[in-house]
Amino acid sequence: MDYHVKDIKLAPQGELNIAWAKSQMGALVKVQERFFKEKPLKGIVIGMALHVTKETAVLVETLQAGGAEVAITGCNPLSTQDDVAAALAKNGVKVYGWKGENTEEYYANLEAIVGHLRKGLAGGKRIATIDDGCDLVTLIHQKHADLIPQLVVGTEETTTGVIRLRAMEKDGALKCTVIAVNDNQTKHLFDNYYGTGQSTIDGILRATSILLAGKRVVVAGYGHCGRGVAKCARGMGALVTVTEVDEVKALQARMDGFESMPMKECAPIGDVFVTVTGDKHVITTEIMKLMKNGAIMCNSGHFDIEIDTAGLYKMAKKRVKVRPFMEQFELDNGKKIALLAEGRLVNLAAAEGHPSEVMSLSFCGQALAVEYGVKHKGNLPAAVISLPTDVDHDIAALQMTAMGLTKDNLTSDQIAYLSSWQEGT
Ligand SMILES: NC(=O)c1ccc[n+]([C@@H]2O[C@H](COP(=O)([O-])OP(=O)(O)OC[C@H]3O[C@@H](n4cnc5c(N)ncnc54)[C@H](O)[C@@H]3O)[C@@H](O)[C@H]2O)c1
Repeated sequence: MDYHVKDIKLAPQGELNIAWAKSQMGALVKVQERFFKEKPLKGIVIGMALHVTKETAVLVETLQAGGAEVAITGCNPLSTQDDVAAALAKNGVKVYGWKGENTEEYYANLEAIVGHLRKGLAGGKRIATIDDGCDLVTLIHQKHADLIPQLVVGTEETTTGVIRLRAMEKDGALKCTVIAVNDNQTKHLFDNYYGTGQSTIDGILRATSILLAGKRVVVAGYGHCGRGVAKCARGMGALVTVTEVDEVKALQARMDGFESMPMKECAPIGDVFVTVTGDKHVITTEIMKLMKNGAIMCNSGHFDIEIDTAGLYKMAKKRVKVRPFMEQFELDNGKKIALLAEGRLVNLAAAEGHPSEVMSLSFCGQALAVEYGVKHKGNLPAAVISLPTDVDHDIAALQMTAMGLTKDNLTSDQIAYLSSWQEGT
């Protein structure tokens, strides 16, 4: 079978959800319409490891409209939307993924995608990858290096994936071109900020059903995502405290009106802790022991290593699953603390990920990055590269049109002034 999903009978609900998402993704639909006419991806097989959500399904449709064949798996064991996966399978997409995969199944699904890339090559096609977190490109480099010379381009969606790729490049290990879609302004200034902000709060509320107003929410990391989470939590009436390791960001948080202090000082006073750093062990078991009874921890960074869950599981004397995405742990000191979504991306595990409109911007970036890679095949370095800024501006313009917005344009007089130096006081 060319797919492996939880239950193919969920397809009708998946189709309804995909159609609803598409109705919010006007910018991506414009790219889709152009792709349908121009077929810039004809002859390409794309292997994708991306959260299998209703928005990703619209990206898949767009790539297919451009002439590509697509095989997709998830990029996190808890983020696949089973109804969407079923709808994709029913419509002929090679999809491997279900919510709640174990690590072995997760890697078997990645291997299935590699299998489709091989099949495509055998059939005379060219191949490309789309990653979110860099697991597919890493697997290809580690176990299927013979595919690398055939790889037209890879693209990467998220900050953590770009960090891994830049580390590979620095080590001399990266052997293909990867376009860092996360570098697009139309990606990180919108998806990471507004998307992660809103959907992380959504995940916390769906998992716990708590009132946020009046709670002290501790946000670890004040990057693009953390700023969004802090802003949304404040919008719900929470008292927000930020922890940072970067002086500039710590200062910026303070001047944005948030408290800014080390995690150790937050530990005894926080009600809800959200990690969103891309870093490891931001909340250790030592920090957990200092937390107050009833504290809630969750993560919205890409991997489940920001909270030391293994240490927590070992240290806890009792573990109770209270709700689908909430477990409570009793510690030796008698306190009970909760962990949401096993420390995995709370917004995708306990909610539905980012709102469709914001993913429209990110996925215009993905579709145009693959097109760019195909168009410039042979002329791009084996390195992590960014899309030219005019592509970014084209995406913003598409989104403005979709939202019915217009803007001012520079006059010729202003263009001349802005590129001159003679005129002063
Ligand atoms: N949940 C989602 O849907 C979603 C969406 C986009 C990105 N992400 C992921 O979120 C993470 C953050 O992404 P970003 O774009 O905000 O990155 P960023 O680089 O803009 O920000 C990360 C911040 O964390 C800080 N930091 C690092 N280690 C820390 C520590 N030990 N304690 C406190 N702060 C620390 C850094 O100084 C930096 O300011 C990444 O893993 C990214 O892949 C998740």
